[in-house]
This record gives sequence, structure tokens and C-alpha cells, in this order.
Amino acid sequence: MLGLKLLTDPRWANIAEGNLEEILTDHAWCEQKAASNAITLITQNSEHMDLVESLTAIALEEMEHFKQVVEIIKKRGYTLGRERKDDYVGKLVKFNKKDGSRNDAFIDRLLFAAMIEARSCERFRVLSLNLKDKELAKFYHDLMVSEANHYTTFLNFARKYTIDVDVEKRWKEWLEFEGKIIQSYGVSEAIHG
Ligand SMILES: [Fe+2]
Ligand SMILES: [Fe+2]
Repeated sequence: MLGLKLLTDPRWANIAEGNLEEILTDHAWCEQKAASNAITLITQNSEHMDLVESLTAIALEEMEHFKQVVEIIKKRGYTLGRERKDDYVGKLVKFNKKDGSRNDAFIDRLLFAAMIEARSCERFRVLSLNLKDKELAKFYHDLMVSEANHYTTFLNFARKYTIDVDVEKRWKEWLEFEGKIIQSYGVSEAIHG
């Protein structure tokens, strides 16, 4: 699925369902971080008008997701907890190239975003197929479709704006790296946990 090297064990959905308040809090902050990431990309690459327009739409969509998750939290009588650290994203961010040109860093930042969208999409799929809670299963199905579109958008901008990065080759390196780090996850009630 989306080139991912390792698929999530469906039993992770049971762990998530065992603590819905926690997974929903973690999820809400994932959406906020996705919006922030899109805004940063806009700020740093404002010369590309099509990217500015597309990522503005994504930032708004991610905040709409944030709003939807917060509404579910409220409706169920839960509390939105403080922002959760995303250990998985922390590991992924280290794979970004920092010693190359501005374009190298830009392309990697787009691939980094595509990578998180791909894994989030896969995790939402696992939730949509395995949660016994029908309302949430439907919700995660809808989000899965949305994140798949974001994944495509980021990857296509990398292909469009590369100067000398071989995007297909670099994307394979991202998939390999992600496939290794994800092996230690799938054990906690967090979207990338
Ligand atoms: Fe989202
Ligand atoms: Fe997204």
C-alpha cells in the first residue's frame, strides 16, 4: 500500500480502541502538526504559486480534521489533552538531508511530508477496517481518502520542482528508512505509535 515496506498489524487497532480518549487526543495533534507543516512549506517556498494554493487548501483541510476530532472528543465527554510528542516523526525528521542545496532540502521536506501522509493513511485504513465503533470506523475511512490525496500532492510537487534530486530513487530511500523505524511501533494508542 502506497509503497510502504511494512503494514501495521491489525491488532494495533484493538490497542487504540482500548483508549479512545488517548488516540483521539494524539490524532487531533497530528492534524495540527500537518497543518503547521503545510504552512511552513508555504512560507519557505512562496515563489511557487501552485504550491502555495495547494498547500493552503491542505492546511485548511488539516485544521478541518482537527476540528472534527475535537468535536468527537467533546461529544463523547472526553478531554483534549496536551500536545503529544510524536516519537515516530522525530525519528523520520532526522532522515532529511541538511547538507545539500536549498532545492535538495525542499525536495526532502516534500518527501518527508508525503511519507507521514502515507503512513497516516495506512493507519487510518487499519482503524477503519478494525474498529468495532462504527462511527469512528466511518470517520477514519473518510480521512484515509483525504490523506491519500495529500500524499499524492506532496510527491507530485517533489517531482515537479526537483532540480537535480532523483525523486524516485530518493523516495525509495525514504520508504526503506521508514520500513526500518516502523518495526518498533504498532504497540501504543497513538496514530504513529
Ligand atoms: Fe489530516
Ligand atoms: Fe494530511
